[in-house]
Amino acid sequence: MQERLQKFLARTGIASRRGAEKLITDGKIRVNGVVVTELGTKVDPVKDKVSYNGKMLKVEAKKVYYILNKPKGYISSVKDEKGRKTVVDILSDVEERIFPIGRLDYNTEGLLLLTNDGEFMNKLLHPKYEIGKTYVARIDGIINMEDLDKLANGVKLEDGKTAPADVYLDSINKTLKESRVEITIYEGKNRQVRRMFKALGYEVKALKRIAFAGLTLSKLKRGEYRKLTETELLRLRKKIGDK
Ligand code: URA
Repeated sequence: MQERLQKFLARTGIASRRGAEKLITDGKIRVNGVVVTELGTKVDPVKDKVSYNGKMLKVEAKKVYYILNKPKGYISSVKDEKGRKTVVDILSDVEERIFPIGRLDYNTEGLLLLTNDGEFMNKLLHPKYEIGKTYVARIDGIINMEDLDKLANGVKLEDGKTAPADVYLDSINKTLKESRVEITIYEGKNRQVRRMFKALGYEVKALKRIAFAGLTLSKLKRGEYRKLTETELLRLRKKIGDK
């Protein structure tokens, strides 16, 4: 879609609308290599190459941040070659090209953040920030104290021993012979929680992430999502050393 050159320039952030008009009339702006001084000139922001001082100008996409309560049966990626539903399908009315921050398995539900801010995502996933992720796991069998301690102190997996975790026994159902365990991990190995329980001989029957980096699902129902508030975003930025 075409738009007026001064509007496009203002959107790139190099100048205000007024300032952009001056840059144009001063002959500082080139469109596809040609100086343009005409204020009414229209450009196509996708096809036309607009430059100032020899530098190509681009409009930065507005950064957006969402929290989703992921249901089971969705994969945590933008596209799936097998044609399965993805978490991005749930947020289909979001115009920006968002992607999930990390992954939840197809059959795991719960808190997932999505954004179009790659740098923010990389930082939140970087091991050095030790971002806490809390899960509730419903497991087959009655878990004992010794195994709870092992989960907390580290379990040997094929890709190394897990880092210390916070572990609480929520409940035991003797009739169904299952236990509910809350576990907070500070790293992000692939399928980590399921593999930790499996290493101790328990099968995870259901897994839900209830917290991530201090954020909780609170009132978000399964399949619902919303934008992060300014306060939530500020708190996250603090954790990763951003202003
Ligand atoms: N650990 C798992 O095993 N699965 C998830 O989806 C997240 C953490």
